[in-house]
Amino acid sequence: MEKMPYQAELDTQLMPYPVAVTEPITSTDWHDGLPVLTGEQVVLRELRASDAAPLFALLTTEEVSRFISPPPTTVEGFEKFIAWTLRQRQAGAYVCFAVTVKGFDTAIGIFQVRDGGQGFETAEWGFALGSQFWGTGVFTEGAALTLEFVFETLGVHRLEARAAVLNGRGNGALLKMGAVQECVLRKSFLRNGQYLDQVLYAILDSDWRATRSSMNIKFPVQVH
Ligand SMILES: CC(C)(COP(=O)(O)OP(=O)(O)OC[C@H]1O[C@@H](n2cnc3c(N)ncnc32)[C@H](O)[C@@H]1OP(=O)(O)O)[C@@H](O)C(=O)NCCC(=O)NCCS
Repeated sequence: MEKMPYQAELDTQLMPYPVAVTEPITSTDWHDGLPVLTGEQVVLRELRASDAAPLFALLTTEEVSRFISPPPTTVEGFEKFIAWTLRQRQAGAYVCFAVTVKGFDTAIGIFQVRDGGQGFETAEWGFALGSQFWGTGVFTEGAALTLEFVFETLGVHRLEARAAVLNGRGNGALLKMGAVQECVLRKSFLRNGQYLDQVLYAILDSDWRATRSSMNIKFPVQVH
C-alpha cells in the first residue's frame, strides 16, 4: 500500500466499467472478473463504483493514510481509482479486492496485488482497512484469503511488501502472516515532505504453505 500504483495524474483513460462487474461472472478466469472469496466473517470481492463513497470516508483519515501513498482526495477520485483497478485486472497487471464483512456489502478496505513484471511470478501486495475494523480479525482473515488467491490462483512465487518502519500495525500485520523481513530500504518513501525508511518483506509460496497449515482458517469458497 505504501506504493499504491494508482496515479490519478497519469490516468487519462475514460472507459466504462466492464460489463462483468454488474452481471454474474461465469468465467473462471480472474482476468474476466475476480472471484468472490468467502471466509467465516470476511468476504472479498471485486470493487464497484458504489464502493467509492465508503472507501473515501474510511481510507482518507489521518490514522489510515499516514504511512501509505496518498489516497484519492475525493469520492470522484476513488471512482477513477476503482475504474483503473478494473482495467488493470483486465490487462492482467494488478488485482484489487474490496473487503466486506459477511452479511454487509459495504466496502471497508482493500487488498491489492501488483504484478512484478513476469506474469505474476513475483508480486507486491498492500492493504488498508477503515480503523474501526482494526484489531477485529478482519485483517487476518482477509489477508489469508488474499494470500491463498495469490499463491494458488495467480501462481506467485515471491510476494513482497513494504512497510514504513514507523508503521507499527503494518509491520505487526505482515509479520503475523508469515512475512520475512529482508532489509531496510533507507529513506525510500516520501510522505508529507519527509523521507521514511521502509522494511522490505517477502513471503515465498513455500512460506505461505507452511504458515497456512498452522493457522485455523477455512479456505475460500469461490463463487463465480
Ligand atoms: C495494516 C492494517 C490493514 C492491519 O489491520 P489491523 O486490523 O490493524 O491488523 P491486526 O490488528 O490484525 O494486526 C496487527 C498486529 O500488529 C500488532 N501491533 C499493533 N501495534 C503495533 C506496534 N506499534 N508495533 C508492533 N506491532 C504492533 C498488533 O498487536 C497485531 O498483532 P496481534 O494480532 O498478534 O496482536 C491496518 O492497521 C491499516 O489499515 N493500517 C493503515 C494502512 C496501512 O498502514 N497499510 C499498510 C500496511 S504495510
